[in-house]
Amino acid sequence: MAKPKMNVKTDICTVNALLEQGHPRMVGQEDLRRVSSVASELATGSTILEMGPWLGFLSVELARHGDLHVVDNFVWTKDHARRVPGFIEIGDSFKPLFEDIMARTEGVPTVHESDFGDFEWDGPQIDLLVVDSPKNPKALFECLSSVIEALVPGARVLIKNGLNPKQHQMMGYIDRLIRLGLFDFDQDNDFQRCNIASLTVKAATGARSGILSDALRSEPMSQESADPAPHFFAVVQMSQQVQTGQWSKAYETLAATAANPEMLRLWEELEVTLSSDVPPMELAIFSEIAPS
Ligand SMILES: C[S@@+](CC[C@H](N)C(=O)[O-])C[C@H]1O[C@@H](n2cnc3c(N)ncnc32)[C@H](O)[C@@H]1O
Repeated sequence: MAKPKMNVKTDICTVNALLEQGHPRMVGQEDLRRVSSVASELATGSTILEMGPWLGFLSVELARHGDLHVVDNFVWTKDHARRVPGFIEIGDSFKPLFEDIMARTEGVPTVHESDFGDFEWDGPQIDLLVVDSPKNPKALFECLSSVIEALVPGARVLIKNGLNPKQHQMMGYIDRLIRLGLFDFDQDNDFQRCNIASLTVKAATGARSGILSDALRSEPMSQESADPAPHFFAVVQMSQQVQTGQWSKAYETLAATAANPEMLRLWEELEVTLSSDVPPMELAIFSEIAPS
């Protein structure tokens, strides 16, 4: 017999039982600490926008520190069903479940049900943007482009997986955004503890959208054209140069980058994620030298 579909909106006991097992989440405790520490620096009454809240694990914390808005398409996926089985049919909306969960907490966010690509922000200026979903440059561009001009100067932007070497294409995009002056890279980023990239908006309004598109189009930049990049971004650059067959640029980047013991570990993590199109012999020779 087919399992009856649950009406989560009315089944309060079931939602309570779900939360008692621990709030479903896709991020770690260290991510929560990072988000909490940045949000706690906000002035009272700040506006926070979270793109991709899922079931609100970070939203509960964010709502304690400001006026929270969330954007999500609220479509229940196979991955969601694997993490929280038996609640919602794949393809159905999980907005009612999100709202039920949030109703049990201190702050109720304003919910925007939208695909990131279609989202239009008409609210006040945003002090903190938290993005958790994109894993490639295009997806990150899609998230940022709808709100980038609405961020206050000096706004903080937290991007989950922005320091995750497995997502080196997206890291490369963030690197270019920093080099083109859209963001400052916050000095307290610590990729060994947490892979959320913490950035501060630097470019003036009006100039930001152009930078988002330019960074999407541009090739990896040479070291000389930019401020010194954090060492892991240099590794990311090398991986992109290798990936696109720009071996001399990759060797140039290597030569221009101060040696750092962490770089070898990072390179090893990245190397295995490179496409099989990279000629193995050239890669082996480069890896022998790089980047100890
Ligand atoms: C990785 S989950 C977020 C996990 C959450 N931060 C947590 O702590 O558990 C990504 C979220 O983004 C949403 N999402 C993914 N792609 C989207 C898109 N193109 N438009 C709108 N929402 C999207 C998903 O529905 C999901 O809620």
